[in-house]
Amino acid sequence: MAIRIVSICGSVRPGNYSAKAMQLAIDELASLPDVEVTPVYLEALEMPLPGLPASKPDAIEQFQQTVKGATGVLLVSPEYHGGISSPMKLAIDNLGFPSMLADKPVQLIGVAAGVIGAIKSTEQLRAICAHVGAIPLPMTVSVAKVQQVFDEEGNCRDAEIEKFIRRAARNLIEYIQDTICHKVSLEEVLRGESDA
Ligand SMILES: Cc1cc2nc3c(=O)[nH]c(=O)nc-3n(C[C@H](O)[C@H](O)[C@H](O)COP(=O)(O)O)c2cc1C
Repeated sequence: MAIRIVSICGSVRPGNYSAKAMQLAIDELASLPDVEVTPVYLEALEMPLPGLPASKPDAIEQFQQTVKGATGVLLVSPEYHGGISSPMKLAIDNLGFPSMLADKPVQLIGVAAGVIGAIKSTEQLRAICAHVGAIPLPMTVSVAKVQQVFDEEGNCRDAEIEKFIRRAARNLIEYIQDTICHKVSLEEVLRGESDA
């Protein structure tokens, strides 16, 4: 059974550092067997504000179905003004009510320009994820001084940070393998759907 991960980038700034951190996590995920990753870059969705009609309803519907079909989710958000970015919040607001994130294990990564990192935004994101019924995993990565950590091409200059980001990506897969996969296989066996 393939593990499907949807990875959402919470910045739409051209050349943003969230995407650079996310790419490192995706690189790690792609190295693991039976893991498929779908990256989501929010600028393409033209997300409506809550309650307003979408200019691209098909794109929003596809976004929702992609998250619904995911085994797990990776959220990478910049810290803006002491909180999560508005694109990331809008993405969550566009995932429906009940949320397509409900019951999904979610790995959080935050990046920030400042020295204290993305502590405030990742804690907020954790609370929002829990509120919509997702399962935010305990290990969170907060990258401080992110402009010094990644170069313009997205290479990570800090071996420790790179290790943390890769570890967080694997953490999500290990959680899924240890909990969700067993549950799914057991259900298949009980329903007689298994080939075994
Ligand atoms: C509107 C806005 C607010 C920001 N507020 C903060 C902040 O509160 N703390 C901080 O460390 N960096 C802040 N930053 C800088 C971002 O953390 C920085 O741009 C970093 O590269 C991550 O964002 P990015 O993924 O868009 O590149 C802010 C940036 C913007 C655009």
